[in-house]
Amino acid sequence: MAFLADSLARIKPSATIAVTNKARELKAAGRDVIGLGAGEPDFDTPENIKEAAIRAIREGKTKYTAVDGIPELKAAIVAKFKRENNLTYTPNQITVGTGGKQVLYNALMATLNPGDEVIIPAPYWVSYPEIVALGGGTPVEIVGPQEQGFKINAAALEAAITPKTKWLILNSPSNPTGAGYTREELRALADVLLKHPQVWIMTDDMYEHLVFDGFKFATIAEVEPKLFNRTLTVNGVSKAYAMTGWRIGYAGGPVELIKAIGTIQSQSTSNPSSISQWAAVEALNGTQDYIPKNAEIFRKRRDLVVSMLNQANGIVCPNPEGAFYVFPSCAGTLGKTTAGGKLLKTDEDFITALLEEEGVAVVQGSAFGLAPYFRISYATSEALLEDACARIQRFCANLR
Ligand SMILES: Cc1ncc(COP(=O)(O)O)c(C=O)c1O
Repeated sequence: MAFLADSLARIKPSATIAVTNKARELKAAGRDVIGLGAGEPDFDTPENIKEAAIRAIREGKTKYTAVDGIPELKAAIVAKFKRENNLTYTPNQITVGTGGKQVLYNALMATLNPGDEVIIPAPYWVSYPEIVALGGGTPVEIVGPQEQGFKINAAALEAAITPKTKWLILNSPSNPTGAGYTREELRALADVLLKHPQVWIMTDDMYEHLVFDGFKFATIAEVEPKLFNRTLTVNGVSKAYAMTGWRIGYAGGPVELIKAIGTIQSQSTSNPSSISQWAAVEALNGTQDYIPKNAEIFRKRRDLVVSMLNQANGIVCPNPEGAFYVFPSCAGTLGKTTAGGKLLKTDEDFITALLEEEGVAVVQGSAFGLAPYFRISYATSEALLEDACARIQRFCANLR
């Protein structure tokens, strides 16, 4: 009898966490390393949110809560969906989890049966296919190529749908590419989905507020109200409010699904932290003034990174609509040898040599389902980004 579960053999640990760990080790060994691997804002959580958490502690709001969220937070989420997305949910259509990741995980665990297919547009956030596989489902990847701005189109979606398709996972703006779907692009996908009533839509809107150059965010249940009853709209406070460590994510969806998500949560973690929930109430109900300010800071960083990377030999860096990632191609560097004598055959070779020779930590595109690319998280200071991009330029200039 094997000790470890068979399901463990179906999944691999997160590549982004692996790169972050390797960078940390090199730093601890005294190397000068710039980490551009981690996906979290470098800003501090706003003061009004911190104060709300401190108040919650002082007022003794430190006990177990309802498994899937306190009524005050559910009300704040209902108001957020109405205000920002024109979606009308009732509190029993809302669930709150320990990060958006737990909500996505619970939703897949609550619905997948062996053989169920989940369509995942690539490049994708690393956790989607792994959670699907852990839940016994079959991830079906469709590539959104660079020429299409890393987005899938209606024809590709139509071709991937089978009678076994249970979910389509959408993520806009995207981790890892920053690509955002316009309303028209979502409309085209919605038209396909209307023809296939067995397919549910899980839309991960985590980067909703980080969009640039006047890009208008849209979410699919708003674009096509006929899909509302089979859409799980997932969001959270991690990225928009610089609250990654607080671990609060949420979703709106049909009551039956929301109940099932709560059942899974009730037998694993129970409620998310009571204190974090009160902080999230303030995040959603309090001032939203810093959101456009932060987005503007990210836009400046994006412009810097895109421009500097496009000046590196062999690198082509598209200009994304949102999030805080760029996803450049390193195809032009493959087949060449680094100053340190490493022959670059894959994007993994590229990122490994870049880390070892220039101390810049990025993540290989193959981890996100598309090679040869790499992901840079530019959620760090302009000074560090300039230094990192100059190192990448030097690394590429030295290739022979
Ligand atoms: C696309 C995407 N979805 C979900 C998450 C999970 O966010 P959290 O669990 O912090 O809410 C992340 C975090 O990196 C992400 O990039």
